[in-house]
Amino acid sequence: MMDAGRHPNIELLAYSEVEDVSGYVGNFKVRVRKKARYVDENECTACGECVKVCPIVRPDEFQQGLSTRRAIYIPFPQAVPSAYLVDIEACLGDNPIACGKCIEVCDKKCIDFDMRDEIVELEVGAIIVATGMDVYDPTALDEYGYTRFENVITSLEFERLISAGGPTGGHFVRLTDGQTPRRIGFVQCVGSRTNNPARGNPYCSNICCMNTVKDSLLLKDHYPDIDITVFYMDIRAFGKGFEELFMRSKAAGVRYVRGLPGEVVEDPQTRNLKVYVENTTAGRIEEHELDMLVLSIGAIPRHDSDLTKQLLTLSRTPDGFFMEAHPKLKPVDATTKGVFLAGCAESPKDVKDSVTQASAAAARAGTLLSKSKIRVEAITAVVDADKCKKCGRCASVCPYSAIRWEKKQVAEIITAACAGCGTCAAECPFDAIEMRHFSDQAIFAQIDAALERDPLNTIVTFACNWCSYAGADTAGTGRMEYPPNARIIRTMCSGRVATDFVWYAFRKGAPVVLVSGCHYADCHYISANRNTVRRVDALWEGLEKHGVRPERLQLEWCSAAEGQRWAKIMRQVEELRAGVTAEEVERTIEVLREAKVPVSSKVWKLKEPTPATLRCLHCGHEWQEDYSMEKAQNEERMCAKCRSNSVRVLI
Ligand code: FES
Repeated sequence: MMDAGRHPNIELLAYSEVEDVSGYVGNFKVRVRKKARYVDENECTACGECVKVCPIVRPDEFQQGLSTRRAIYIPFPQAVPSAYLVDIEACLGDNPIACGKCIEVCDKKCIDFDMRDEIVELEVGAIIVATGMDVYDPTALDEYGYTRFENVITSLEFERLISAGGPTGGHFVRLTDGQTPRRIGFVQCVGSRTNNPARGNPYCSNICCMNTVKDSLLLKDHYPDIDITVFYMDIRAFGKGFEELFMRSKAAGVRYVRGLPGEVVEDPQTRNLKVYVENTTAGRIEEHELDMLVLSIGAIPRHDSDLTKQLLTLSRTPDGFFMEAHPKLKPVDATTKGVFLAGCAESPKDVKDSVTQASAAAARAGTLLSKSKIRVEAITAVVDADKCKKCGRCASVCPYSAIRWEKKQVAEIITAACAGCGTCAAECPFDAIEMRHFSDQAIFAQIDAALERDPLNTIVTFACNWCSYAGADTAGTGRMEYPPNARIIRTMCSGRVATDFVWYAFRKGAPVVLVSGCHYADCHYISANRNTVRRVDALWEGLEKHGVRPERLQLEWCSAAEGQRWAKIMRQVEELRAGVTAEEVERTIEVLREAKVPVSSKVWKLKEPTPATLRCLHCGHEWQEDYSMEKAQNEERMCAKCRSNSVRVLI
């Protein structure tokens, strides 16, 4: 921090908030609110005289509320700049009748209550998101008694208690009597690795096991006679030197009990804790008497991740952390070009991994900035200005905000920001946008070719490049058997599949059409496949209106690793195809030949939640749900019976 603060090329904007980000790779404009500190950070010498006279006492957030701070304070000892700030909500103000004592004692005269927030506009070429993480609040796990018993603490509170800069100066003490505990327990996986959303998150938080191993060694080092028990599911010591550290902790006498406590009770006299646990190795219920219990709480995404996501048009994985552009090939790039991820913003990780990722992100950003031009993928959108009717629909669906459009203006593609998903081309009602390498003409030609011979036995399949197509590949390389009559048309994203492609396929005699893409929250183009759902909805509605069975159009999500799933989907769709007769196909061709194809969807008009019936087009299962436009945009619909995504909403 000190080095960063002193570096001539680094401008530190501490105690500030990013309010707006616009522009694109190489040309970002960032608006930052530099909050008023009410203390001149350049003049303040951190002498601390103001703190001595401040009458306001508040819990110290940095010390987890285990000690107090004043209304004028330094957020934490290593803060850069090392200058005070005023908690204006708590402060009594500068009026001498109310208080104003800090102003009186400040020799440097650096306290200024007239200070106002400052807006700083920055022009930057790249952005690194290193916003960190929050920790799980164990209050909901009542069996551990975190809110009932003072001697049950979290691992973060433990860190403050054992830290030399902590409220006890590094002396580890029981909170109830200030004595050094003799018996201490650690509970692992608190809020992690559970499928019950009320009890935490399904992912492993990555750092808790080794943190406990480290803490146990630290305690043994400070207090050799201390008795330590760790309650765990399994210890994950997979990093360099971690297994050795775990063994060292065992050799130092730390007891590891495989099983998580079912109940913790406190003796009201002694304030000692009784922990009841099933030791699954020994196969018996055990009772452990302890002086203190530490809950190893898991990592969770930051509470304001949604805001960051909106500011930078990022994607989030189902666990809520930010999604990288590619897990193997671009692990530090965000889905938006010119934005990079570092540390726990991307996933829970330890210091070493955070430093590694931060170095990589800095190098990636440096590489980008060192050039005057950037190279982009050739697959980008192109607007035909003569055809563009200036409606702006393309700009409204672009997940990257890569289309510049103003009222009554022809849309303009920012090529450097365009990722090539094709959503805009699929959305344009006037065919004014063409995708390089995935033109409408090329896709229509592929549909023609697919249905040229024996169309009644053909399954026209649109598969996105990153997941479904790769899933089909996995099925193939894994020698998984599935019907061979699918004709796969690859698009970069399922969002490229225009409704016209599907209508065209039916008009050309396709018995069934399958649209397939990445899982709902996993689209490689941020949220482009939400438009897929909307379009398929409109198509289902249109098909029904024309007397065509909507189940003849299927929508399925399949990831690159799900070869088995791909084979299963194809078997199901083939079953469906086998049920479509030549007469039915003829009738469809006849009806659609003359039809003006509708594209509206009732679902898309539901502003407020409205009772709706949902029907699975695979198995026919029906259920009731309140449905709204927001829900359609943010939640994946899935049949509870057969897990299919081909779910139709009936209003
Ligand atoms: Fe697969 Fe968007 S990239 S659905």
